[in-house]
Amino acid sequence: MKKPPSGLITALKESNNLLVLTGAGMSAESGVPTFRDAQTGLWEKFRPEDLATPEAFRDQPQVVWDWYAERRTRISTISPHPGHAALVEMEQYFECFMLVTQNVDSLHQQAGSKNVIELHGNIMRSVCSRTGKAIDDEWIAASNDRPPLSPHHPSGLARPGVVWFGEELPTGTMNRATAAALDCDICFSIGTSTLVQPAASLPFVALDAGATVVEINPQPTRLSSAAHFSLRATAASSLPVIAAALAGYKRA
Ligand code: APR
Repeated sequence: MKKPPSGLITALKESNNLLVLTGAGMSAESGVPTFRDAQTGLWEKFRPEDLATPEAFRDQPQVVWDWYAERRTRISTISPHPGHAALVEMEQYFECFMLVTQNVDSLHQQAGSKNVIELHGNIMRSVCSRTGKAIDDEWIAASNDRPPLSPHHPSGLARPGVVWFGEELPTGTMNRATAAALDCDICFSIGTSTLVQPAASLPFVALDAGATVVEINPQPTRLSSAAHFSLRATAASSLPVIAAALAGYKRA
């Protein structure tokens, strides 16, 4: 994208409160494999939807642990792209800026974003399967078990600190994200199909509450026709252009 729509820059200029929702498309441009892309080699015979569930972990904890271990290893070699950096830059221009991500790879935080809500958790963290309490990296590294036993409960195991299919999001995080959607002046929906609930509801909540909604996605989604601006572009090609245009106004 060479130039953002002028109406979008005007709207951003007049706004104090920005909400950004990101999904897998944001990370894909850094090379983070989506669930489907990750099904190579040993994992080809497994369906991701069958691995990322509490039932799979109960029935085959080692298989699920090993699958996540491989994803962690791949993600740890990946860096944020210019779209992540543009969101860091934009954060400083608004009184309120909330970044709600469905991604579990920490790329926003790695880039430097401060006000981030991880709706689906974080793949780099481990928690006790019985209590949900965080388990230190040192404890995990010191164990030869796959998965390691939990230090917090006699029958607990370490599990990835992510929200699995069929699990509820922690109420606090979704409440904070919904409050941000109700309050924002502008809501960006970036790299998400807006299909997976409850995250998918957030741009629609913002829309109903009167916010300007901006979608960035190379493909149309069910949000596209409702959004005020639907940019058919990738995150890394469009966000730096928007941040640069905004810098001219906000810094003036
Ligand atoms: N820039 C912007 N959007 C992109 C890009 C890109 N470079 N590449 C792909 N996309 C778009 C795709 O067109 C698609 O609409 O990103 C979207 C990704 O959609 P999903 O794979 O459904 O991802 P998401 O919406 O984040 O799914 C939510 O489902 O897979 C589970 O738990 C996982 O958090 C994830 C949740």
